[in-house]
Amino acid sequence: MADTRPPSTRSGTRTDRDALLDLNRPNPARVFDAIHGGKDAYLIDRHVADKLIVNNTFRVAVTQARAFMLRAVEHLVGNYGITQIVELGCGYPNTPQVHDVAINQNPNARTLYLDHDPYVAAHALALMTGPNSEFATADLTDPASIAEHLATTLHISTPIAVCLSGTAEFLPDAPALVASLLQHLPDESWLVFTHTAADLHDSDIDTAVETLASAGIRYRPRDRDEVEQMLAPLLLLDPGLVTADLWRPDHNNDDECLAGFGVWPRPTVCSYAAVGKLHRR
Ligand SMILES: C[S@@+](CC[C@H](N)C(=O)[O-])C[C@H]1O[C@@H](n2cnc3c(N)ncnc32)[C@H](O)[C@@H]1O
Repeated sequence: MADTRPPSTRSGTRTDRDALLDLNRPNPARVFDAIHGGKDAYLIDRHVADKLIVNNTFRVAVTQARAFMLRAVEHLVGNYGITQIVELGCGYPNTPQVHDVAINQNPNARTLYLDHDPYVAAHALALMTGPNSEFATADLTDPASIAEHLATTLHISTPIAVCLSGTAEFLPDAPALVASLLQHLPDESWLVFTHTAADLHDSDIDTAVETLASAGIRYRPRDRDEVEQMLAPLLLLDPGLVTADLWRPDHNNDDECLAGFGVWPRPTVCSYAAVGKLHRR
């Protein structure tokens, strides 16, 4: 019988794409959408998310990483004149979106979302695109394809803020992606980066990694030394590499301060976060 499935795209091999499309397997983007309070997860994803949500250390790490990313975008657009933002591995729509935060600071700011998941693509094309935002399917393991999207969608001679938050852990070789990405960005561009920490609360994070592995989702936390090496070519904005909650917390926003904790005492936030600037001269 003829294979009527859509052809494989640049988003990955046929096998990768089939795995993401297979509704009998938990889907990484939907599992994390559920952790962020989204409603798009199916039962099979929800089973995995439920286990991760009760693992408070992991839930807090993930939710605080996203809150940091939004604060960092606000800061770069509002205070550093950035008007072009890219989110690598954007996941399902989640409120607020990166472009909401950006246009709140500057109505001319433009955001490009990239992800390899066909379901994310369907949702993002419907709900994350508009006059100031676009979505494209791209595989982050193919840096040339990312460079092509940047060049065709954005002004490649103007600094760009690239968000790699909540996504590096899924990649087979995140350090290689970061190194290659930095070569393709214009000078004075920024990297907004988070990475789940392997060395702050090992046992809870290990449990989360095992939960994900048993659902067929590969997820790799890193320790501080590894994260520092990845960010070494960048000039880090104050306060440098810290846990996500400590990066310029918005003490005026009580909701944001409380978001993601939900328990007292506040747990250690097992997510490293930094904003680094590319400065070649
Ligand atoms: C945790 S989710 C979304 C993270 C989102 N940036 C946030 O802060 O909430 C990670 C996303 O990375 C995407 N992803 C994983 N591996 C990828 C790859 N090789 N290429 C493109 N996207 C990838 C997944 O499809 C998923 O949507």
